[in-house]
Amino acid sequence: MHFAHYPSLEDRVVFITGGGSGIGAAMVAAFARNGSRVAFVDVAVEASQALVESLAEARHRPLFIPCDLADIAALRSAIGRVRAECGPMAVLINNAANDERHDVDAVTPEYWDAAMAVNLRHLFFAAQAARPHMRELGHGAIVNFSSIAWMHGGRRMVTYATAKAAIVGLTRSLARELGGDNIRVNAIAPGAVVTERQRRLWLSEEDIAGFVARQSLNRQLVADDIARVALFLAADDSAMIPKQCIIVDAGLH
Ligand SMILES: NC(=O)c1ccc[n+]([C@@H]2O[C@H](COP(=O)([O-])OP(=O)(O)OC[C@H]3O[C@@H](n4cnc5c(N)ncnc54)[C@H](O)[C@@H]3O)[C@@H](O)[C@H]2O)c1
Repeated sequence: MHFAHYPSLEDRVVFITGGGSGIGAAMVAAFARNGSRVAFVDVAVEASQALVESLAEARHRPLFIPCDLADIAALRSAIGRVRAECGPMAVLINNAANDERHDVDAVTPEYWDAAMAVNLRHLFFAAQAARPHMRELGHGAIVNFSSIAWMHGGRRMVTYATAKAAIVGLTRSLARELGGDNIRVNAIAPGAVVTERQRRLWLSEEDIAGFVARQSLNRQLVADDIARVALFLAADDSAMIPKQCIIVDAGLH
């Protein structure tokens, strides 16, 4: 399946969190192939560097900045570097998360705070830091990653599901706050996307077949399916769509 090409995204600065693997890597590649100037942060240094090398032929070589998003000072400094090396950010993709599983009884206050730091807190602070860039440009698009996990009550993931539900509230209220600056804030809630990590940690072939059987569409959901929707929400083609959470789950939910 081909990707649509969005002229409005050419040369625009797109900042993606957790761009080193999975859906984030698919989005780094999709925006770079669309001609955007992509910068991304991740803790996975080797995978991220390899991704940059694989996109050497793109119109703009992506910029990778190693950064742990639990550290807000490091995130702010990464965004400062994007501003200095690439220019003001027009698109922010708040993608990074960690869907670690846990038992309810094992959750300590420290574990809870760490889960919120990796799954929720940095999305707000990235948006806060992006706002002056977007104001300067006179437009901006922010795409936050939720999940269907909170809608159906996923097992052994209370902290993750709580954060992913909060991201919908964050999206709707930020859309209201930033709309006056012509900044659109939307969310994507993916279904069961079969990434390398999901296969390695959580999904057996049987699980994957089970998801497909429960979907209304009879094909595995892959990272590119999500990247296509992120391109649309970032481009001017969705200029009058703020505050939405788009479910991309092949009909699983
Ligand atoms: N894969 C799915 O089935 C699925 C389903 C629903 C929602 N989502 C959401 O989509 C987004 C992407 O999911 P994915 O499956 O590609 O995840 P993934 O775990 O494969 O990739 C996440 C990326 O974020 C990076 N990352 C994690 N913690 C970080 C930190 N502290 N600082 C910097 N980078 C960090 C990881 O190294 C990784 O490259 C996430 O928000 C996830 O919650 C995924």
